[in-house]
Amino acid sequence: MGAFNTFNMEMTQGIVRAAHDLNKPSIVQVTTSTFKYAGCRSIGKVVRGVIETESNSNPMGFHLDHGKNFDDIVCGIEEAEMDSVMIDASLLSLRENISITKRVVDYAHEKGVAVQAELGKVPYVGREEQTIDWDELMTKPEEAQQLVEETGIDALAVGIGNAHGFFPERPEPDWERLKKIRQLIPDTPLIMHGASDWGRDRIKQAVKLGVTCFNIDTDNRLAFITSICRAVGPRCDVTDPRKILDPARTAVYEKVKEKIEMFNSISSELTANKDDQNKKYQLSDSEE
Ligand code: G3H
Ligand code: 13P
Ligand code: ZN
Repeated sequence: MGAFNTFNMEMTQGIVRAAHDLNKPSIVQVTTSTFKYAGCRSIGKVVRGVIETESNSNPMGFHLDHGKNFDDIVCGIEEAEMDSVMIDASLLSLRENISITKRVVDYAHEKGVAVQAELGKVPYVGREEQTIDWDELMTKPEEAQQLVEETGIDALAVGIGNAHGFFPERPEPDWERLKKIRQLIPDTPLIMHGASDWGRDRIKQAVKLGVTCFNIDTDNRLAFITSICRAVGPRCDVTDPRKILDPARTAVYEKVKEKIEMFNSISSELTANKDDQNKKYQLSDSEE
Protein backbone atom coordinates (compact mmCIF):
# COMPACT_ATOMS: atom_id res chain seq x y z
CA MET A 1 0.00 0.00 0.00
CA GLY A 2 0.92 3.64 -0.22
CA ALA A 3 1.39 6.10 2.64
CA PHE A 4 0.93 9.60 1.26
CA ASN A 5 2.02 12.81 2.97
CA THR A 6 -0.29 15.78 3.32
CA PHE A 7 -0.10 19.26 4.78
CA ASN A 8 -3.55 20.76 4.11
CA MET A 9 -7.17 20.05 3.16
CA GLU A 10 -6.75 19.98 -0.62
CA MET A 11 -3.85 17.55 -0.59
CA THR A 12 -5.73 15.32 1.87
CA GLN A 13 -8.82 15.33 -0.33
CA GLY A 14 -6.74 14.43 -3.40
CA ILE A 15 -5.31 11.42 -1.52
CA VAL A 16 -8.52 10.25 0.19
CA ARG A 17 -10.62 10.62 -2.98
CA ALA A 18 -8.14 8.66 -5.11
CA ALA A 19 -7.95 5.82 -2.57
CA HIS A 20 -11.73 5.82 -2.25
CA ASP A 21 -12.37 5.77 -6.00
CA LEU A 22 -10.00 2.81 -6.42
CA ASN A 23 -11.36 1.21 -3.27
CA LYS A 24 -7.88 0.66 -1.90
CA PRO A 25 -7.01 0.99 1.80
CA SER A 26 -4.24 3.57 2.14
CA ILE A 27 -2.54 5.83 4.65
CA VAL A 28 -2.51 9.62 4.96
CA GLN A 29 0.39 10.92 7.00
CA VAL A 30 1.79 14.19 8.27
CA THR A 31 5.25 15.05 9.54
CA THR A 32 6.26 17.17 12.49
CA SER A 33 7.16 19.99 10.05
CA THR A 34 3.46 20.05 9.25
CA PHE A 35 2.67 20.15 12.96
CA LYS A 36 4.83 23.28 13.11
CA TYR A 37 3.18 24.72 10.00
CA ALA A 38 -0.46 23.98 10.82
CA GLY A 39 -0.63 22.99 14.50
CA CYS A 40 -1.11 19.32 15.33
CA ARG A 41 -4.67 19.71 16.59
CA SER A 42 -5.77 21.71 13.55
CA ILE A 43 -4.19 19.47 10.93
CA GLY A 44 -5.51 16.47 12.87
CA LYS A 45 -9.07 17.83 12.64
CA VAL A 46 -8.65 18.58 8.92
CA VAL A 47 -7.36 15.12 8.05
CA ARG A 48 -9.81 13.29 10.33
CA GLY A 49 -12.65 15.38 8.93
CA VAL A 50 -11.78 14.57 5.31
CA ILE A 51 -11.35 10.86 6.10
CA GLU A 52 -14.64 10.68 7.97
CA THR A 53 -16.53 12.62 5.34
CA GLU A 54 -15.08 11.21 2.15
CA SER A 55 -13.62 7.75 2.59
CA ASN A 56 -16.95 5.97 3.27
CA SER A 57 -16.17 2.30 3.79
CA ASN A 58 -12.65 2.42 2.30
CA PRO A 59 -10.27 2.08 5.27
CA MET A 60 -7.84 5.01 5.58
CA GLY A 61 -5.13 5.11 8.24
CA PHE A 62 -3.92 8.39 9.72
CA HIS A 63 -0.24 8.28 10.63
CA LEU A 64 2.51 10.43 12.13
CA ASP A 65 5.52 10.38 9.79
CA HIS A 66 9.03 10.92 11.23
CA GLY A 67 8.09 11.78 14.82
CA LYS A 68 11.39 12.84 16.36
CA ASN A 69 10.74 12.83 20.08
CA PHE A 70 8.24 11.84 22.74
CA ASP A 71 6.38 15.17 22.56
CA ASP A 72 5.70 14.62 18.84
CA ILE A 73 4.20 11.23 19.68
CA VAL A 74 1.94 12.66 22.39
CA CYS A 75 0.88 15.40 19.97
CA GLY A 76 0.08 12.84 17.25
CA ILE A 77 -1.92 10.56 19.53
CA GLU A 78 -3.64 12.99 21.90
CA GLU A 79 -4.14 16.07 19.73
CA ALA A 80 -4.29 14.74 16.17
CA GLU A 81 -5.92 11.41 17.07
CA MET A 82 -3.74 9.33 14.79
CA ASP A 83 -4.03 5.56 14.32
CA SER A 84 -0.30 4.98 14.18
CA VAL A 85 2.93 6.86 14.79
CA MET A 86 6.53 6.70 13.67
CA ILE A 87 9.38 7.36 16.06
CA ASP A 88 12.39 8.17 13.91
CA ALA A 89 15.40 7.92 16.18
CA SER A 90 17.61 6.81 13.32
CA LEU A 91 20.09 9.63 13.96
CA LEU A 92 20.77 8.31 17.47
CA SER A 93 22.94 5.37 18.50
CA LEU A 94 21.33 1.92 18.43
CA ARG A 95 21.11 1.92 22.23
CA GLU A 96 19.37 5.33 22.33
CA ASN A 97 17.12 4.38 19.41
CA ILE A 98 16.01 1.24 21.24
CA SER A 99 15.45 3.14 24.44
CA ILE A 100 13.20 5.92 23.05
CA THR A 101 11.42 3.51 20.69
CA LYS A 102 10.59 1.20 23.59
CA ARG A 103 9.21 4.12 25.59
CA VAL A 104 7.03 5.11 22.62
CA VAL A 105 5.81 1.53 22.08
CA ASP A 106 4.81 1.16 25.74
CA TYR A 107 2.90 4.45 25.63
CA ALA A 108 1.29 4.00 22.19
CA HIS A 109 0.26 0.35 22.61
CA GLU A 110 -1.49 1.25 25.82
CA LYS A 111 -3.68 3.52 23.67
CA GLY A 112 -4.15 1.03 20.84
CA VAL A 113 -1.81 2.92 18.49
CA ALA A 114 0.73 1.10 16.29
CA VAL A 115 4.39 2.15 16.08
CA GLN A 116 6.87 2.31 13.22
CA ALA A 117 10.58 2.80 13.94
CA GLU A 118 13.53 3.51 11.66
CA LEU A 119 16.95 1.96 11.63
CA GLY A 120 19.60 2.94 9.17
CA LYS A 121 19.27 6.35 7.58
CA VAL A 122 17.17 7.39 4.60
CA PRO A 123 18.88 10.67 3.59
CA TYR A 124 17.11 13.87 2.47
CA VAL A 125 17.66 15.92 -0.65
CA GLY A 126 19.40 19.18 0.07
CA ARG A 127 19.63 18.48 3.79
CA GLU A 128 22.56 16.10 3.62
CA GLU A 129 26.14 15.90 2.43
CA GLN A 130 26.11 15.15 -1.25
CA THR A 131 28.56 12.28 -0.88
CA ILE A 132 27.06 9.36 0.93
CA ASP A 133 28.66 6.32 2.48
CA TRP A 134 25.82 3.90 1.83
CA ASP A 135 27.39 1.02 3.74
CA GLU A 136 27.50 3.22 6.79
CA LEU A 137 23.88 4.41 6.39
CA MET A 138 22.00 1.26 5.46
CA THR A 139 20.11 -0.89 7.97
CA LYS A 140 22.20 -3.58 9.60
CA PRO A 141 20.04 -6.73 9.66
CA GLU A 142 21.22 -7.99 13.07
CA GLU A 143 20.53 -4.57 14.61
CA ALA A 144 17.05 -4.60 13.07
CA GLN A 145 16.39 -7.92 14.76
CA GLN A 146 17.62 -6.55 18.08
CA LEU A 147 15.44 -3.43 17.75
CA VAL A 148 12.34 -5.50 16.99
CA GLU A 149 12.96 -7.99 19.79
CA GLU A 150 13.72 -5.36 22.42
CA THR A 151 10.96 -2.89 21.58
CA GLY A 152 7.96 -4.78 20.15
CA ILE A 153 7.47 -2.33 17.24
CA ASP A 154 4.75 -2.98 14.66
CA ALA A 155 6.69 -1.90 11.55
CA LEU A 156 10.21 -0.93 10.53
CA ALA A 157 11.46 1.67 8.04
CA VAL A 158 14.55 0.28 6.33
CA GLY A 159 17.47 1.84 4.51
CA ILE A 160 18.76 -0.22 1.61
CA GLY A 161 20.02 2.63 -0.56
CA ASN A 162 16.72 4.54 -0.77
CA ALA A 163 16.66 8.33 -0.22
CA HIS A 164 14.02 11.00 0.33
CA GLY A 165 13.16 13.38 -2.50
CA PHE A 166 14.98 13.07 -5.77
CA PHE A 167 18.28 12.67 -3.95
CA PRO A 168 20.63 10.41 -5.91
CA GLU A 169 20.09 6.95 -4.50
CA ARG A 170 22.41 3.98 -4.39
CA PRO A 171 22.66 2.86 -8.03
CA GLU A 172 20.94 -0.40 -7.09
CA PRO A 173 19.11 -1.05 -3.79
CA ASP A 174 20.89 -3.61 -1.64
CA TRP A 175 18.44 -6.46 -2.23
CA GLU A 176 20.60 -9.01 -0.39
CA ARG A 177 20.43 -6.83 2.71
CA LEU A 178 16.65 -6.59 2.43
CA LYS A 179 16.43 -10.36 2.09
CA LYS A 180 18.54 -10.80 5.22
CA ILE A 181 16.40 -8.31 7.17
CA ARG A 182 13.28 -10.19 6.10
CA GLN A 183 14.73 -13.50 7.22
CA LEU A 184 15.60 -12.17 10.65
CA ILE A 185 12.29 -10.33 11.27
CA PRO A 186 9.76 -12.19 9.10
CA ASP A 187 6.71 -10.93 11.02
CA THR A 188 7.50 -7.22 10.98
CA PRO A 189 6.05 -5.22 8.07
CA LEU A 190 8.84 -3.31 6.31
CA ILE A 191 8.32 0.27 5.14
CA MET A 192 10.12 1.88 2.20
CA HIS A 193 10.61 5.62 2.62
CA GLY A 194 11.57 7.86 -0.28
CA ALA A 195 9.53 5.87 -2.79
CA SER A 196 8.42 8.77 -5.04
CA ASP A 197 11.07 8.01 -7.61
CA TRP A 198 10.77 4.24 -7.39
CA GLY A 199 9.45 2.72 -10.59
CA ARG A 200 7.52 -0.47 -11.14
CA ASP A 201 10.47 -2.88 -11.22
CA ARG A 202 11.97 -1.72 -7.95
CA ILE A 203 8.62 -1.66 -6.18
CA LYS A 204 7.87 -5.16 -7.41
CA GLN A 205 11.22 -6.50 -6.24
CA ALA A 206 10.76 -4.82 -2.84
CA VAL A 207 7.26 -6.31 -2.44
CA LYS A 208 8.62 -9.75 -3.28
CA LEU A 209 11.17 -9.30 -0.50
CA GLY A 210 8.62 -8.27 2.13
CA VAL A 211 8.02 -4.51 1.85
CA THR A 212 4.36 -3.76 2.51
CA CYS A 213 4.17 0.02 2.40
CA PHE A 214 5.77 2.76 0.26
CA ASN A 215 6.02 6.36 1.50
CA ILE A 216 5.32 8.99 -1.13
CA ASP A 217 5.62 12.73 -0.66
CA THR A 218 7.79 14.52 -3.25
CA ASP A 219 5.83 13.34 -6.29
CA ASN A 220 2.58 14.71 -4.82
CA ARG A 221 4.19 17.99 -3.78
CA LEU A 222 5.49 18.44 -7.31
CA ALA A 223 2.10 17.64 -8.81
CA PHE A 224 0.49 20.20 -6.48
CA ILE A 225 3.06 22.94 -7.09
CA THR A 226 3.34 22.41 -10.84
CA SER A 227 -0.40 22.76 -11.15
CA ILE A 228 -0.35 25.99 -9.11
CA CYS A 229 2.50 27.46 -11.20
CA ARG A 230 0.61 26.64 -14.39
CA ALA A 231 -2.64 28.11 -13.10
CA VAL A 232 -0.99 31.31 -11.89
CA GLY A 233 1.05 31.80 -15.06
CA PRO A 234 3.58 34.58 -15.58
CA ARG A 235 1.12 37.31 -14.52
CA CYS A 236 -0.65 36.65 -11.28
CA ASP A 237 -4.12 38.13 -11.69
CA VAL A 238 -6.06 35.49 -9.76
CA THR A 239 -8.38 36.84 -7.11
CA ASP A 240 -10.04 33.58 -6.11
CA PRO A 241 -7.47 31.15 -4.63
CA ARG A 242 -9.93 28.28 -5.05
CA LYS A 243 -9.44 28.58 -8.80
CA ILE A 244 -5.81 27.50 -8.41
CA LEU A 245 -6.25 25.12 -5.49
CA ASP A 246 -8.96 23.08 -7.17
CA PRO A 247 -6.75 21.92 -10.10
CA ALA A 248 -3.86 21.39 -7.66
CA ARG A 249 -6.11 19.04 -5.67
CA THR A 250 -7.01 17.23 -8.90
CA ALA A 251 -3.32 16.92 -9.81
CA VAL A 252 -2.65 15.18 -6.48
CA TYR A 253 -5.70 12.96 -7.03
CA GLU A 254 -4.34 11.87 -10.43
CA LYS A 255 -0.83 11.23 -9.08
CA VAL A 256 -2.10 9.17 -6.13
CA LYS A 257 -4.36 7.20 -8.47
CA GLU A 258 -1.38 6.46 -10.70
CA LYS A 259 0.60 5.15 -7.70
CA ILE A 260 -2.24 3.04 -6.32
CA GLU A 261 -2.92 1.57 -9.76
CA MET A 262 0.74 0.61 -9.99
CA PHE A 263 0.63 -1.05 -6.53
CA ASN A 264 -2.58 -2.88 -7.50
CA SER A 265 -1.24 -4.21 -10.75
CA ILE A 266 2.00 -5.38 -9.12
CA SER A 267 0.11 -7.16 -6.39
CA SER A 268 -2.27 -8.84 -8.89
CA GLU A 269 0.71 -9.95 -10.97
CA LEU A 270 2.48 -11.43 -7.94
CA THR A 271 -0.70 -13.17 -6.77
CA ALA A 272 -1.28 -14.62 -10.26
CA ASN A 273 2.33 -15.89 -10.35
CA LYS A 274 1.84 -17.50 -6.95
CA ASP A 275 -1.41 -19.16 -8.12
CA ASP A 276 0.39 -20.49 -11.23
CA GLN A 277 3.18 -21.86 -9.04
CA ASN A 278 0.66 -23.53 -6.73
CA LYS A 279 -1.14 -25.08 -9.69
CA LYS A 280 2.18 -26.38 -11.03
CA TYR A 281 2.98 -27.98 -7.66
CA GLN A 282 -0.51 -29.50 -7.43
CA LEU A 283 -0.14 -30.91 -10.95
CA SER A 284 3.25 -32.44 -10.24
CA ASP A 285 1.90 -33.88 -6.94
CA SER A 286 -1.00 -35.54 -8.76
CA GLU A 287 1.37 -36.89 -11.45
CA GLU A 288 3.38 -38.56 -8.72
O1 G3H B 1 10.04 12.16 4.87
C1 G3H B 1 9.15 12.97 4.81
C2 G3H B 1 9.06 14.16 3.98
O2 G3H B 1 9.28 13.97 2.64
C3 G3H B 1 9.76 15.35 4.53
O3 G3H B 1 8.72 16.06 4.97
O4 G3H B 1 9.31 18.47 4.86
O5 G3H B 1 7.25 17.61 5.99
O6 G3H B 1 9.49 17.25 7.04
P1 G3H B 1 8.73 17.44 5.77
P1 13P C 1 9.63 10.96 -0.95
O1 13P C 1 9.43 12.43 -0.70
O2 13P C 1 10.94 10.67 -1.56
O3 13P C 1 8.50 10.38 -1.68
O4 13P C 1 9.66 10.27 0.50
C1 13P C 1 8.53 10.34 1.29
C2 13P C 1 8.77 9.78 2.63
O5 13P C 1 9.58 8.94 2.86
C3 13P C 1 7.91 10.29 3.70
O6 13P C 1 8.23 9.72 4.92
ZN1 ZN D 1 10.34 9.32 5.14
